[in-house]
Amino acid sequence: MALVKIPDENRTLADAASVTQCLAEVGIHYERWQPSHPVEADASPEEILASYAPEIEKLKAQGGYVTADVISVNPQTQGLEAMLAKFNREHWHDEDEVRFILSGRGLFHIRPRQGPVMAIEVEAGDLIRVPRGTWHWFDLCSDRQIRAIRLFQDPSGWTPHYTDSRVDQNYQPVCWGPQYIPPQATLR
Ligand SMILES: [Fe+2]
Repeated sequence: MALVKIPDENRTLADAASVTQCLAEVGIHYERWQPSHPVEADASPEEILASYAPEIEKLKAQGGYVTADVISVNPQTQGLEAMLAKFNREHWHDEDEVRFILSGRGLFHIRPRQGPVMAIEVEAGDLIRVPRGTWHWFDLCSDRQIRAIRLFQDPSGWTPHYTDSRVDQNYQPVCWGPQYIPPQATLR
């Protein structure tokens, strides 16, 4: 289950109701998915998309998403750091950022127009929808791996627009979940 930390208030939320409500208050939709036909996390993209087809179709209908794919990254992924560098600075998109985590972990930071920055650590089973226009940034945890289903209204709308606020530099890109081994040093 996702964990939420509000660093500026020294608060951590770790129960489903609090996490869901806290995120909803800043416009972030969060839920847990159980596949109708479970597959292994290392199944092919086609198998995964078929397994989650009912959930994906429901989301498409709700959010106007037209395509879905599966992204997999790990430390062996070519160009990984360059890819991460595009998204670990505060930015927004012209379309929603919708991710369902199949395996691995990741760390979203959200900066609401009003209220404190929230760090959201996501893991397998978590669906998160960051609405278009939301200021946010994303890091992998130090094991550098994640596999996720992505949904798009228009893949070309997913280009990041940078705020250049540098607010992201005030927050550590460090995961803290219970199964997580802290890194030896911060990543930047
Ligand atoms: Fe993004």
